[in-house]
Amino acid sequence: MTTKSQALLNWIDERFPLTSSIKGHLTEYYAPKNFNFWYFFGSLALLVLVIQILTGIFLVMHYKPDASLNASGVPVAFASVEYIMREVPGGWLIRYLHSTGASAFFVVVYLHMFRGLLYGSYRKPRELIWIFGTLIFLVLMAEAFMGYLLPWGQMSFWGAQVIVNLFSAIPLIGPDLALVIRGDFVVSDATLNRFFSFHVIAVPLVLIGLVVAHIIALHEVGSNNPDGVEIKKKKDANGIPLDGIPFHPYYTVKDIVGVVAFLFFFSAVVFFAPEGGGYFLEYNNFIPADPLKTPPHIAPVWYFTPFYSILRAVTFPLFGLDAKFWGVVAMGASVVIIAFLPWLDRSPVKSIRYKGPIFKSALVVFVISFIILGYLGVLPPTPGRTLVSQICSVLYFAFFLLMPWYSKLDKCKPEPERVTFK
Ligand code: HEM
Repeated sequence: MTTKSQALLNWIDERFPLTSSIKGHLTEYYAPKNFNFWYFFGSLALLVLVIQILTGIFLVMHYKPDASLNASGVPVAFASVEYIMREVPGGWLIRYLHSTGASAFFVVVYLHMFRGLLYGSYRKPRELIWIFGTLIFLVLMAEAFMGYLLPWGQMSFWGAQVIVNLFSAIPLIGPDLALVIRGDFVVSDATLNRFFSFHVIAVPLVLIGLVVAHIIALHEVGSNNPDGVEIKKKKDANGIPLDGIPFHPYYTVKDIVGVVAFLFFFSAVVFFAPEGGGYFLEYNNFIPADPLKTPPHIAPVWYFTPFYSILRAVTFPLFGLDAKFWGVVAMGASVVIIAFLPWLDRSPVKSIRYKGPIFKSALVVFVISFIILGYLGVLPPTPGRTLVSQICSVLYFAFFLLMPWYSKLDKCKPEPERVTFK
């Protein structure tokens, strides 16, 4: 470094912890040396968050949250999205990056969460990282749901109608709560305006705050790894973990490989299949919202469908409360229960590599049930499909609720002393 740049750095360091932050979080943050494929998805989630924020900023420059009809009888909000797609230079690209980005966000986050399940990354001392993660997941769902109303297409309108109405099933406060969420007795311009405000500023602020807390918590305790071995337990004479390597340059370079591979697939979808076969942008959403015409089949976007299936699986009243109420309870519980994993898993080892056949089989059954629930959530219900989704919902909850029992019962292999690395 030249004397001038060193002097500038010293000047900054006396006023702001720049060098010490770079050291603490990058060059002297020791991460386990055995990270694998599954460890790409945290940094990719950060990348998608940045893509969503940047493309969102440019979309807001032209988008108008207004449900009134323009001179051609089209809702202004819907027309403003068409204007972005057809008239704004590069607008189509920005919009498709954002709409495909929403699906990419969930793909990446689901894989990131699955990595946590595989390697027991939620276990002590990482409970708070996991809890912040579950909160991020909840907030992300709210963000995506509100964003989906903004193009004011048929699916935007009717999807919001169905989901907001669910809140009215809550005893006592339900109807008033639904009214507050909508700002009206039906989904209307008032709903569009408040969802816009939440989607553009309130929820992203919360999301960013949670992501910061998630990473601070991670850097406090250090990363887990595919062996589930705590690298801080074995340090050299200088206090550096024997199985650790500096995050920068080793993992910054590794993560760039992940970014390039991700961008390859992501751009392929953005340029060649932005609707994702009707899964990323539903075909009905290319029709302007019409409060007088209910589409024959209303389905949420793919990332909500496993939870939507659990909601629909409850078809019977209980304790004097109707099926809709219990459906909402089951759907809420299916997300909240994820946060309790650190206390449900009683296995003596963290990683799937050393867990026994019972845990491995339970995980396979769980993943298959989750995928079936997701698939059924896209389709209209039939008695047969409802029965399958009921069975899969039971299996989904059994994975969590029986975990304290079967994780203790399992025959695990001994965890190694040091990480395994070829
Ligand atoms: C916006 C969404 C998210 C972002 C940007 C994000 C970011 C990150 C990053 C950068 C890491 C470190 C790199 C890595 O281990 O891959 C990480 C670790 C972790 N995340 Fe997330 N995350 C998000 C959502 C979630 C969710 C939804 C969960 C679970 C419910 C979760 C659970 C974890 C856990 C347990 C770790 C530690 C993993 C380990 O050390 O093995 N994260 N996250």
